[in-house]
Amino acid sequence: MPKLNENYLQLKDSYLFSEIAHRTAAYTEKHPDKPVIRLGIGDVTRPLCECAIKALHESVDEMGQAATFKGYGPEQGYAKTRDAIAAYYKRNGVDVDADAIFISDGAKSDTGNITELFGHDNVILIPDPVYPVYVDSNTMCGNKVTYISGNADNDFLPMPDHSQHVDVIYICSPNNPTGACYNYEQLKEWVDYALENEAVILYDSAYEAFISDPELPRSIYAIEGARKCAIEFCSLSKTAGFTGTRCGYTVVPKELVFTSSDGREMSLNTMWNRRQSTKYNGTSYIVQNAAAAIFSEEGIKECQENLNYYKKNAKVIADTLTELQIPFYGGIHSPYIWFECPNGMDSWTCFDYLLENIQVVGTPGAGFGENGKNYFRLTSFGTYESTVEAMNRFKKLFAK
Ligand code: MLT
Repeated sequence: MPKLNENYLQLKDSYLFSEIAHRTAAYTEKHPDKPVIRLGIGDVTRPLCECAIKALHESVDEMGQAATFKGYGPEQGYAKTRDAIAAYYKRNGVDVDADAIFISDGAKSDTGNITELFGHDNVILIPDPVYPVYVDSNTMCGNKVTYISGNADNDFLPMPDHSQHVDVIYICSPNNPTGACYNYEQLKEWVDYALENEAVILYDSAYEAFISDPELPRSIYAIEGARKCAIEFCSLSKTAGFTGTRCGYTVVPKELVFTSSDGREMSLNTMWNRRQSTKYNGTSYIVQNAAAAIFSEEGIKECQENLNYYKKNAKVIADTLTELQIPFYGGIHSPYIWFECPNGMDSWTCFDYLLENIQVVGTPGAGFGENGKNYFRLTSFGTYESTVEAMNRFKKLFAK
């Protein structure tokens, strides 16, 4: 009999968004006549922009001709795509070398797989609440996690405890689920702390495109010293609506070099290259071409139109919660609105209450950590019409 990875026994039975999908499916099966509005998982509804569609068509045609057909691609991704991403960083005032960029199928896989580069006896600091993949992927490989509390008192932006040593730090900004976003000073404090502790920051910037205030950093590399202590993960899922198309990128600077227990130098860039070239055969040529296209001037403009659409939805939700006097966070530099469950409900009770009474699906805060147990997340990625309808139903349900 094989010995199984018993760390899986420590996980909840199902992944948060699978649980929500199951509960919603069970409800719709029982009540086929009641139309459900899904504002739970952060899945986009706007179609891909024209630039991406054009690049996809052209690449498909190339694959159909012997002269332009492509087999396996370069292990870190095509130079055209990596250069386009480096130029996108530059446009936002940040220098990132194209050879530090690895193209992937999304930030979820990479934030999960990165655990393989680290030993099992590190102090791993993860904010609570946060995207559940960080905790689950560490649990799967038997790592112990230390939590840092995000709460209403710190506006869901926890800061380092300088009396505590840590080795690996997860940061997601703008944060999933709360929408809170660190400013330069706050991120600098994290970078300085990581440098002092010789720690590595695993920085998830999947929602950076939602930042509209030029005073807020869109990348950890906007902070001096970050190239010596941070890996950054980003995704085209939210920036360009690639949730179904699948493409992301991870930046592993060559400056990230640490010493092994027997005194040898280990480069995280080399290790990630070794890991990816062994276990991943790359994002398809067709998709990488579409990714390069969305980082063109025209592509950025077209994607921004979709982002503006979602921001308008976020405002509809925020205005409704304001009117109903339900305290909330986020919704400005983020597609997510994080609100206090009304009437003292816990978050799964709130989930059932909304589904049963107004057929609106959201995400219970408890799925993001203990500190989320009295909060609830709505996404602005629905259609405008369904968002307005959901908020009309909220008004009827919660009007005092
Ligand atoms: C979310 O709803 O938190 C995200 O869509 C999940 C993801 O990006 O994997």
